[in-house]
Amino acid sequence: MQGIDTDIAPRVIVGDTLHSVAEAVAAAVAGHVAGAPSAVLGLATGATMVPVYAALVRAHRDTGLSFARCTSFNLDEYVGLAATHPASFARFMQAHLFAHADFAAAATHLPRGMARDLAREADRYERAIADAGGIGLQVLGIGANGHIGFNEPGSAFDTRTRVVDLAAPTRAANQAGFPPGEPVPARALTMGIATILGAGQLVLAATGARKAAAVAACITGAIGPHCPASALRLHPRVTIILDRAAASRLN
Ligand code: GLP
Repeated sequence: MQGIDTDIAPRVIVGDTLHSVAEAVAAAVAGHVAGAPSAVLGLATGATMVPVYAALVRAHRDTGLSFARCTSFNLDEYVGLAATHPASFARFMQAHLFAHADFAAAATHLPRGMARDLAREADRYERAIADAGGIGLQVLGIGANGHIGFNEPGSAFDTRTRVVDLAAPTRAANQAGFPPGEPVPARALTMGIATILGAGQLVLAATGARKAAAVAACITGAIGPHCPASALRLHPRVTIILDRAAASRLN
């Protein structure tokens, strides 16, 4: 594989505690929304985002931060799960953010995992993002295998929203969110790497030792589809916010 060279360096911030990581990510989002009340936000799910959204809900409640004029697009959703399914990302977003802040329901978007024609749904989602004027700030987590959204290792950097097969470790990592005995879906709809790189600004958060190898590969490894998160180094405005454990394999 041909290496890609870049002079662009992401800004890396290491926080002392989980709380300080979440506060820093939330502050980036809050600052963006304060400067652009009609912001288009790209949102993520996962355990890393739970304290981030809790911090945003606190900011909404205590400082009057308003999302009333914002539009949001989530990165991904499982194929075959209705928005009402307890493990769907739509439910996650309701539980952790939307139900506790003032987003307009019609302005919050996730890919529809129950769509009959998934390719058409993927195209519709891409178009909706473009019609909204593109994403201003995209929040991201990272998988232990370096995935962003559900772009698993091997995802080309020119990919757009599409159906993907989930890697076995990803399904295993997400099993805890599902009712006992119910398997994690084998497929998902996800924004592509090119969709993500199309955002004006990217903020990636990672916490815990389980993410340390992926974080090191993302920031200091070779840039290429073997590590989807390494694509962030092709973007001029990226902030990576880590706790000490997630940063432990950086020099
Ligand atoms: C998921 C999501 C990603 C997320 C990642 C890490 O399944 N599709 O967007 O960043 O896995 O999740 P967690 O924060 O739970 O470790």
